[in-house]
Amino acid sequence: MKLIKTINEMHAFGTATRQSGKRLGLVPTMGALHDGHLSLVRAAREKSDAVAVSIFVNPTQFGPNEDFAKYPRNLESDSKMLEREYVDVIFAPSVNDMYPAGAITWVTVEGMSDRLCGNSRPGHFRGVTTVVSKLFHIIEPDTAFFGQKDAAQVAIIRRMVRDLNMPIKIGVCPIIRESDGLALSSRNTYLNPEDRKSALILHQSLLRAHTLFEGGEREAAKLIAAGKQEFGSEPKARLDYFEIVDPDSLEPVTTISNRALIAVAAFIGNTRLIDNIIVDPNR
Ligand code: PAJ
Repeated sequence: MKLIKTINEMHAFGTATRQSGKRLGLVPTMGALHDGHLSLVRAAREKSDAVAVSIFVNPTQFGPNEDFAKYPRNLESDSKMLEREYVDVIFAPSVNDMYPAGAITWVTVEGMSDRLCGNSRPGHFRGVTTVVSKLFHIIEPDTAFFGQKDAAQVAIIRRMVRDLNMPIKIGVCPIIRESDGLALSSRNTYLNPEDRKSALILHQSLLRAHTLFEGGEREAAKLIAAGKQEFGSEPKARLDYFEIVDPDSLEPVTTISNRALIAVAAFIGNTRLIDNIIVDPNR
């Protein structure tokens, strides 16, 4: 496994891989890897001949009062995990190389970027789409793999790829959870044991809405009210949003007649967590 830190070397690796007729799979990450990330790596391994994983804590997707400085960084242990998954190359550039002084160009998926997390984290998705575009240009993968855990991110990246004619396929992998339902996240390491228990409220609120949906309820307002009500039982949690939207456009849904995304975000102490489920009345 190669560890590449410079953009030129990474670009050369991507070009050489393609020229040798190999399909290159890319898994973009911010590191602090867990089984959620590894599920993406395994999907990439299955569908590609060579796998690149980028590890870059992207400053432009963090707000001024967010956790950029304290975000966990463990390149050494991440490398060991990726070596065991037969990854071909890790791309771990520096902030200065990715954003040289004077960089003023952004990629924004208008409107969609203000929905869900984009509403409570202004500029977040602009940072995501900008860095993902840069990674796509530098590495030029055939397919890039993303997790359904970040459902809005998936929708926005798909739209960016479509709108900008990027010749890259997007693979989406299901959410990996702990046995008690908590979605794996690098930010779970911030939780003390008590917070860890409180964090279950995100999944519980989704299950509550899901149960009602399975019972035939199709009015989004009723499902949202039930999901929000669950939060009443968990005083340590501060709800950010509980919404039902179209999974492609991220537009709010009033009556569920097609696939719909039920998405939740909440703070447990200072830690902001997200989770979601898809419901489909036609299945
Ligand atoms: P990061 O949070 O490190 O996540 C990297 C990828 O892993 C994302 O596609 C995310 O959806 C996926 N992932 C995280 N937890 C998961 C889980 N429990 N199950 C399945 N997949 C999971 O998302 C980012 O980084 C950044 O925004 C990035 C795309 C790298 C751009 O900076």
